[in-house]
Amino acid sequence: MHVFKKISELNLYLSPFRNQHKVVGFVPTMGALHSGHLELIRKCKNDCDLTVCSIFINPLQFNNREDFVNYPVSIAQDISLLENAGCDVLFSPSEKEVYPEENKSVYDFEGLADTMEGKYRPGHFNGVAVVVKRLFDIVQPQKAYFGIKDYQQLQIIKKMVSIHHLAVEIVPCPIVRESDGLAMSSRNRRLTNEERKIAPMIYRIIQQSASKSKEMAPSKLKDWIYKQFNEINQMQLEYYELVDANTLQPVHTWTSGQEVVACVAVYLGSVRLIDNVSFIS
Ligand code: PAJ
Repeated sequence: MHVFKKISELNLYLSPFRNQHKVVGFVPTMGALHSGHLELIRKCKNDCDLTVCSIFINPLQFNNREDFVNYPVSIAQDISLLENAGCDVLFSPSEKEVYPEENKSVYDFEGLADTMEGKYRPGHFNGVAVVVKRLFDIVQPQKAYFGIKDYQQLQIIKKMVSIHHLAVEIVPCPIVRESDGLAMSSRNRRLTNEERKIAPMIYRIIQQSASKSKEMAPSKLKDWIYKQFNEINQMQLEYYELVDANTLQPVHTWTSGQEVVACVAVYLGSVRLIDNVSFIS
């Protein structure tokens, strides 16, 4: 695997592939890689002639300084995981390389960022859109791979692509889970042993959304889910929201055939975890 820190070096390597119209696939990450990330790499390799992964912990998307400072870093392990997965190129730039000057872009996501992560992490999605646009401009991929785990982020990125009329196909990838159901996340490694044991309850609870939706209205279902989380002392539910899969607007009544996504953010101690399940109402 080729590892580049400089845009100029990356361009030099990529230009023959671009000239030969090879399909360049891209997997942007913030590192601390796990099997969820590697699944994106696997899918990318399957579809594309060349697989480029980036590792960049983007300061612009952290609304909480502590979360940024504590974000796990494991570059040596990441490189070996990517090599074993057959990734062709790793781009791991410095902050100066990504942001040579202050980026003041402000996006209008037309309601997509008003709920859930957008509401509880002000500025987060603007920072995500800015960095992904910047990375797309640098790598110029034909396809880019994102996890459904960050469902709202995926919709925001699609919106950013349509705002700029970019010629990149966004490929959504399923949520990869541990054998006990916990959605894989770089933040899981910050859980204590005790917290890790109860963490699978998040998925176990939200998994019941679809069946309970047959019995109760959305507001009652939300109450029921809040109650389930309340019973677990170590967990603090930040939100549980039922939203339309496309508009991300809250669902107040069930409409037959509508795709609904049940999204959750939970604190386990100081670690904030998100997850989601989707179902047809
Ligand atoms: P990061 O959290 O490192 O995630 C990188 C990609 O991996 C995202 O598309 C995310 O949705 C996906 N991913 C993470 N956990 C997953 C899981 N359990 N199953 C499937 N996919 C999973 O998301 C970011 O980084 C950043 O916001 C980024 C897009 C790189 C911009 O900085």
